[in-house]
Amino acid sequence: MDQTKGGVMIEGPQCYHELSKALEGRGTVVVSRQTEKVFPGAERASNLEAALQVAQGMPWVGPIWITGGERIYAEGLVHCEKLYITRIHRDFEGDRKFPMDWAQHFKRLTWSKAGSFEGLNYTFEIWER
Ligand SMILES: NC(=O)c1ccc[n+]([C@@H]2O[C@H](COP(=O)([O-])OP(=O)(O)OC[C@H]3O[C@@H](n4cnc5c(N)ncnc54)[C@H](OP(=O)(O)O)[C@@H]3O)[C@@H](O)[C@H]2O)c1
Repeated sequence: MDQTKGGVMIEGPQCYHELSKALEGRGTVVVSRQTEKVFPGAERASNLEAALQVAQGMPWVGPIWITGGERIYAEGLVHCEKLYITRIHRDFEGDRKFPMDWAQHFKRLTWSKAGSFEGLNYTFEIWER
């Protein structure tokens, strides 16, 4: 999340509520079709295209980051130049999925670093088109 500082995060309402606020030091746009919903510290947009426009108009100079959840990722991948992904080397049960076809959009692994956290091995990777 630190990397999003200075830029703008575009996220869904669940992600916003899980963080419990808009993070400091960056802009936030929440994609929600419910016009009556308010997200303190963030702008709301009704769809991803509108969210991208709002983000471009914000006074933050860093990149625009698509930070999930499931549908925001699925719709957002075509707009992304880079994919920052943490691959955890263990299988988990889950009810949200990252788009299965992401490797069709991003062909070049440009950076990777292995690590371990609380017994979980992971690889942090950056992919480009
Ligand atoms: N591992 C990771 O990197 C990562 C990243 C992100 C999220 N997550 C996890 O994923 C879970 C949340 O995922 P989620 O997919 O349920 O949450 P989400 O995307 O944050 O929120 C889902 C909501 O987004 C709105 N929405 C979705 N698609 C839309 C569209 N096309 N246009 C307008 N609004 C749209 C809808 O709310 P309205 O009814 O208000 O329109 C929908 O109920 C959390 O547990 C989170 O921790 C993990």
